[in-house]
Amino acid sequence: MWVFGYGSLLWHPDFPVVQTVPGKVKGYIRRFWQLSPDHRGTEEKPGRTVTLVPDENGEVWGIAYRVPDEHVDNTRQYLDFREKAGYTNQLVQFYPDDGSNPFQVGVYISPQDDNPYHAGPQPEQLIAEQIVACHGPSGSNIEYALRLAYVVRTMAPSIQDDHLFSIEQSILNLCKERKIRDKVLADVGYHELFDDHETQS
Ligand code: SIN
Repeated sequence: MWVFGYGSLLWHPDFPVVQTVPGKVKGYIRRFWQLSPDHRGTEEKPGRTVTLVPDENGEVWGIAYRVPDEHVDNTRQYLDFREKAGYTNQLVQFYPDDGSNPFQVGVYISPQDDNPYHAGPQPEQLIAEQIVACHGPSGSNIEYALRLAYVVRTMAPSIQDDHLFSIEQSILNLCKERKIRDKVLADVGYHELFDDHETQS
């Protein structure tokens, strides 16, 4: 079984993997349009995670993970639970960065219709405001968004994901304006945002 990671699976897959292949899926864009009531927020105050949204000309960079046969059932159960708030597993074609033959991967996508967790298009500044205000059992929403931008930039420097990087910049501006000292800022290299180097988790 292959699983495509394009959000938190990029830095925290948390299941057995025997092979990783960087590459893209085509016909989608990555958007912070998913409400997160269980990882980066709560039911009362949901945060934001990413989902894939169909787009004829879109491409999304990520990593395909191969799960060893003996761990397929457990991993499927683990991921179905982890992605239970609105995501469904689908099969899509994956194009490795090294130009080798495309193959099918499973991917968790949040459908737009009949889905209370799919927020749909909203201004990026508004999404950033929501992210800086939310926290859930998996950590701060700032941590999720800044870590995602960091791993995409460092693992795939040629990828220009305007939506992701524009939201990252808005979050950094808000952190500076409001003196929000999330621990992730230091982890991903933004110590200089504050004079006193104080951080909090
Ligand atoms: C997810 O897997 O959808 C989110 C996990 C996280 O927030 O770290």
